[in-house]
Amino acid sequence: MDPFQNVANNLLQKVLTYTERSYAPYSGRMEAVIILLEDGSFIPGVRVENASFQLSISALLNAFTTAFSLGRKDISAVISSVPFSESELAYTSALSGYSWELVGSQLLLVAGAHLPVPTEAVEIIKHVDHFDPQRGVELARTASHHALIPQSNFPVGCAIAFPSGEVITGANVEHSDWSQILCAERNALSTAISYGLGETKAIYVSCPKLPGGTPCGACRQVIVELAPHATVWMDLGSDAPASMMATELLPGHFSGDVLKRTQKS
Ligand code: THU
Repeated sequence: MDPFQNVANNLLQKVLTYTERSYAPYSGRMEAVIILLEDGSFIPGVRVENASFQLSISALLNAFTTAFSLGRKDISAVISSVPFSESELAYTSALSGYSWELVGSQLLLVAGAHLPVPTEAVEIIKHVDHFDPQRGVELARTASHHALIPQSNFPVGCAIAFPSGEVITGANVEHSDWSQILCAERNALSTAISYGLGETKAIYVSCPKLPGGTPCGACRQVIVELAPHATVWMDLGSDAPASMMATELLPGHFSGDVLKRTQKS
């Protein structure tokens, strides 16, 4: 088998192993995407659905927003567990700085890039001892430095902590199609799912240009579904962080439990 075909097969096998991490209780569509970086490391993204269907995050959007908020733009290829949709192809073709070659229906190559042998997923989980709210908002503030914000120039960062001391961060990632912009909070939450982390109890949000800024309505709906027991801490700049419970952020929220496939008769 030629080396290209070998790598392509390897990627396809790998992406299939990530599909089980998807959160797809409404459709059952367990889907994953892998972004292969030039050094052979890769970034997974899985499908993350929401009861308010339109807020669902595709595997491709999840993977790209994870990569960009890590500052990783050195992309060689993107592989999907299912054929790319029209909107996924539109997302990639609108990105400046890349020209793509679609091979079959599940592999996108960056024209001119070489195809390295895939190694390991990029390690993005930090371990933080002695965690407190101040440390949490500081991590969120630092994460905001990686925001990709050509449209707004408004950076937002989010850190999500797990009881075991693991922390994941995310920043807002913008796109020329505004409907494809992902906020920092949803980026961090969906990244945590791609990396197989469970339900978080603590979310930290920092809007450095607007101390005290709180999550938008879309993020509130996603937070309340994915992290219903979380405390959400807001960066108040030089003042101590302020907190609210996830459920307080969206009183009377829409719950999708009745829509879940396991609940249907
Ligand atoms: N943004 C967030 O990242 N989180 C929010 O909760 C509010 C808004 C981002 C989205 C967009 O990139 C910019 O801020 C302006 O809305």
